Amino acid sequence: MTSSRHDGDTWDLASSVGATATMAAAARAIATREDSTLFSDRFAEPLVRAVGVDLLAKLASGETGSGTLVGRIWIDAAKIRGKFYDEFFLDASAAGIAQAVLLASGLDSRSYRLPWPDGTVVYEIDQEPVVEFKARTLAGLGAEPTADRRPVAVDLRDDWPAALRAAGFDPAQPTAWSAEGLLGYLPPEAQDRLLDTITELSAPGSRVATENRPNPRPGDEDKTKERLDRISEQWRGEGFHTDMTRLRYFGERNEAAPYLSGLGWTVRGSTVRELLAANGLPPLQDDDLRMGDLRYIRGVLA
Ligand SMILES: C[S@@+](CC[C@H](N)C(=O)[O-])C[C@H]1O[C@@H](n2cnc3c(N)ncnc32)[C@H](O)[C@@H]1O
Repeated sequence: MTSSRHDGDTWDLASSVGATATMAAAARAIATREDSTLFSDRFAEPLVRAVGVDLLAKLASGETGSGTLVGRIWIDAAKIRGKFYDEFFLDASAAGIAQAVLLASGLDSRSYRLPWPDGTVVYEIDQEPVVEFKARTLAGLGAEPTADRRPVAVDLRDDWPAALRAAGFDPAQPTAWSAEGLLGYLPPEAQDRLLDTITELSAPGSRVATENRPNPRPGDEDKTKERLDRISEQWRGEGFHTDMTRLRYFGERNEAAPYLSGLGWTVRGSTVRELLAANGLPPLQDDDLRMGDLRYIRGVLA
């Protein structure tokens, strides 16, 4: 049984929140195999296999069909989310931004996959076992970074700006920041602090991309927890011991989009429901997980 989150908890890619990075990469692997026209991540499958969580490796490689083990939305959301963040960074590069920071980089392979312009520096922040594993595994596969990739092994609840600066980050240059699949794993006040700090470290013209989860309506979270409990139970039945309800922080928090607007960012974005339709993907069957109103947002600092 996964224990509840607490200050200073740690993990690798097979445990606690670290396993969510492997789940996200498994979804990208399935999405890529299914239809790589919207989004493609050729490193997702080998990375997941290397982590060694049997169920996720079999799902990623197609040996086990996603069927009832994985909801349709899990795969379709990986497609639209992957496309959204790829386009965000490509647009930022086209606008001349040469410094990117992937907050909670997990098994994100963008620094090995995207055509970054020469001279672009990409900082990847995550817990030490996570950044170390990805670099070692991709090197073992013979993959070369397509940017000047700089891993920053630090907990985002600690003094990560100091670690980022020590790796060479220059706050005087505009930055493209991503916080993909991260905010729900931070307590509400840590989310605010993260967005405050990003803003403090951002020169004018900087950009940010993340997700805005709307605050729950009465009864919403009970439904979400029940669904996550059912999925976790099914996965435990397949030998993967996770408890997704315990990994996320629930309850009210400042929503990211208005919070960023209040800090001076001009923010726009689209909901998952809108992006499914815009990309010709099937609509949600049910929305117990409240994915439909999740909004992928991007902001520019004036
Ligand atoms: C759902 S995964 C997302 C990973 C990646 N951004 C992606 O979309 O594939 C969540 C990630 O957040 C990282 N994370 C969560 N809390 C963190 C913290 N306090 N410090 C550093 N990393 C953290 C985890 O290690 C994990 O890699």
